[in-house]
Amino acid sequence: MNKRILSIALASLMLVPVAGVAQKSQPTMKDVLGKYFLIGAAVNVNTVWNRDAKAAEVVKKNFNSIVAENCMKGEEIHPEENVYDWKDADQTVKFGEENGLTVIGHCLVWHSQAPKWMFVDKEGKTVSREVLIDRMYHHITEVVGRYKGRIKGWDVINEAFNDDGTYRETPYYKIIGPEYFELAFKFAHAADPDAELYYNDYSMSKPEKREAVCRLVRNLKAKGCRIDAVGMQSHNGLDYPDLTDYENSIKALAKEGVKVQFTELDLNMLPNPQNFGGAEISQHANYMKKMDPYKKGLTKNAQKQFNERYLAFFKIYKKYAKDIERVTIWGVDDGTSWLNDWPIPGRTNYGLLIDRNYQVKPVVKDIIKLFE
Ligand code: G3I
Repeated sequence: MNKRILSIALASLMLVPVAGVAQKSQPTMKDVLGKYFLIGAAVNVNTVWNRDAKAAEVVKKNFNSIVAENCMKGEEIHPEENVYDWKDADQTVKFGEENGLTVIGHCLVWHSQAPKWMFVDKEGKTVSREVLIDRMYHHITEVVGRYKGRIKGWDVINEAFNDDGTYRETPYYKIIGPEYFELAFKFAHAADPDAELYYNDYSMSKPEKREAVCRLVRNLKAKGCRIDAVGMQSHNGLDYPDLTDYENSIKALAKEGVKVQFTELDLNMLPNPQNFGGAEISQHANYMKKMDPYKKGLTKNAQKQFNERYLAFFKIYKKYAKDIERVTIWGVDDGTSWLNDWPIPGRTNYGLLIDRNYQVKPVVKDIIKLFE
């Protein structure tokens, strides 16, 4: 074939769109589930500073909301009285704003990871009720005020009830008394009147805890406090929570006139010693090989259980979508999930929807299909 004909043939080839080359990319969770509620991920500092560029990419592609996994907690953001460490929290908000991600604040009042100095004076003696109220006021006012108008809503109080519905005897409770709930919500509202305010807890499908939190919502509203939603953390397992209890909690909370959020969704795939349900961060156990059965990967059967269990959760979220404001996965990829180290350090867990190679897991396609 002479040169001229060859060049015409090549040029014409360029004009023919090769079938399938410019394939429309598959819709992601944020494209489809994002039409029903916020679909988010908890991000660590490596992600927001782009040190973990692959995690950052995965977040931008699949989610429309983020929450800081740790850097906005008391002990990290407010290490000493009148000394704040804003750098990671600022970068988290910046990462969210630059990538069109709705930013959620976590968390203002929590007994775990609270600033070490918060409850004691210079001599190490427990502070008075007035002093703690003043310290809680300044902490909430400074943190919420700094991000006024930039953070959609805050986990004002985290994990303040025991599973049996009694008040958790935290230093906030012991020193201030149950009024700390109302004070914390009022301080947060004063610092950013447009921010949504949430109460957040785990094992929220337990009837006694559900009742206690519904009572809290009623009490806060009766006292004129703003409360927009309750977070059911959803650190779930293959055999907990009972899904009827789970649905009953959604219905009970919706009846109280608040939105429901699934704020820390993950799925523990490993056997746990004793009854390590929920997410009591203070619980720990020593490493035992038999408690770490999937070092090399999930078995076919375990993978099937994982897929079926996640689909069961999202079927419920679809059923109650009108009551649900947000579903946040507690982490980005399996490799950095807290579940690898809780309650037993150094294990290989598979609790999230993105695997250790930053690949979206196959079940996500089926989850998306539920909502299409
Ligand atoms: O930043 C330090 C680092 O400097 C140090 O070298 C390292 C080793 O000691 O610790 C690092 O801090 C750790 C932090 O995560 C950041 O990685 C803390 O020890 C560790 O306790 C902390 O764990 C977090 C845990 O909350 C306690 O704050 C988990 O990542 C986080 O996923 C988990 O999240 C909580 C929610 O906030 C509330 N609901 C329960 C959920 C699970 O416990």
